[in-house]
Amino acid sequence: MIKSIIAGVGGYLPEKVLTNFDLEKMVETSDAWIRERTGIRLRHIAADDQTTSSLATKAGEDALKNAGISGEELDLIILATTTPDDTTPATAMRVQAGLGATKAFAFDVQAACSGFMYALSVADKFIKAGTVKTALVIGAETLSRIVDWSDRNTCVLFGDGAGAVVLQAKETEHISTTEEGILDIVLHSDGRLRDLLTTTGGVSRTQTAGFVHMEGREVFRHAVTNLSNVAQEVIDRTGISLSDIDFLVPHQANIRIIEGTAKKLDIDLDKVIITLPEQGNTSAASIPLALYEGIKSQKLKKGQLILLDAMGAGFTWAGALIRL
Ligand code: UT7
Repeated sequence: MIKSIIAGVGGYLPEKVLTNFDLEKMVETSDAWIRERTGIRLRHIAADDQTTSSLATKAGEDALKNAGISGEELDLIILATTTPDDTTPATAMRVQAGLGATKAFAFDVQAACSGFMYALSVADKFIKAGTVKTALVIGAETLSRIVDWSDRNTCVLFGDGAGAVVLQAKETEHISTTEEGILDIVLHSDGRLRDLLTTTGGVSRTQTAGFVHMEGREVFRHAVTNLSNVAQEVIDRTGISLSDIDFLVPHQANIRIIEGTAKKLDIDLDKVIITLPEQGNTSAASIPLALYEGIKSQKLKKGQLILLDAMGAGFTWAGALIRL
C-alpha cells in the first residue's frame, strides 16, 4: 500500500508588522487587554502589492527547497484559503504558474481555519489512491483585507501569512504508528453554527467579500470542546495513547484556547508549538506556519509523533496524527 510522508515544510510572513500599540491608535483597546485575553503581541500584514497567491508562492518555494525538489515534480497543488485573489479561477492557479508546476493539477479548498487540515486530508487521499506521487499543500491568507479595522472585537485577532507542506508517496507494507507518515486525519463540520463566525457579505449574496464578524464568546465556548474531542478521536482511532505524543501543533486562535485544550488533553505546554504571540490568527496558514516554526526552532524533529488540531468558521474542526 501507499502512504504520504512529509518531505518538506516552508513558510512566509510579510515584513510589515502591526503591534498591539499600533492598534491602540486605531480602536479603543490596549496592549494589556489583547495580551491577556488572546496572547497576541503582533501580527504580520501583507504589503499593498502582496496577495494571498504571492504569500502562498513564497511559502511553496520554501517548502520545495526544503524538500529538495522543483515545481515541475509536483503532481498536485491544493491551496486552503478564505481570502482568494480572485473569485475565479482558484488562487492555486496563480501559485501553480508561479512555481512552474506545469505537470500539476491545482485547486482551492475553503474550510476557514481548518482549511489546511481539509486540504492535507484531500492530498493524502490522492496519494493513498496512487493517483498522485508528490503534492504541495498550502494554507495562505490575507485576512487583513477582510478585517473591519474599526471593529475591536475582531481586528486585534488576525494576521497574514502562508505555510506549505510537500507530501510524497511512499510504499509500505502497512501504516504503522512507529514509522514516518500521515497516520490519520479526522474532519468534522456543523453548518448550523455558520453564523457565529462569518463575513458580512459574499459573492452570491451581496456581490462583495464582506468583513469578518464573530460572536467571540460563543466560538470560544465550542473551540476547547471540539479541539480536545477531535484530538481524542484521532488518538483513539490510531490506537496510540496521549503520552506517546511528542508535540501538539494546534491552530493559533487564542492562547487561552490552546492552554485549555492542552490542559484537557493533559499535554504539558512545553510540548505545544505556539506561534500566536508573533503571528496572531492566520486562519488556514496557522498550522503549516506552526509546523514551519517548530522545525526551524528544532523543537520538531524527524521521528516525532505530532498531533495537529484546528477549529474554525463553519464550524469546521479537524485532528491529525503524523509521524515526522
Ligand atoms: O480561528 C477561529 C476560531 N476563533 C476563535 O477561536 C476565537 C474565539 N474567541 C476568542 O478568542 C475570544 O472570545 C475573544 C478574544 C474574541 C474575546 O475575548 P473574551 O474574553 O471572550 O471577551 P468578550 O467578547 O467576552 O468581551 C469582554 C469585554 C467586553 O466588554 P464588556 O461588554 O464586558 O464591557 C468587550 O466589549 O471585552 C471587550 N472587548 C475589548 N476590550 C478591549 C472586546 N474586544 C476588545 C478589545 N479591547 N480589542
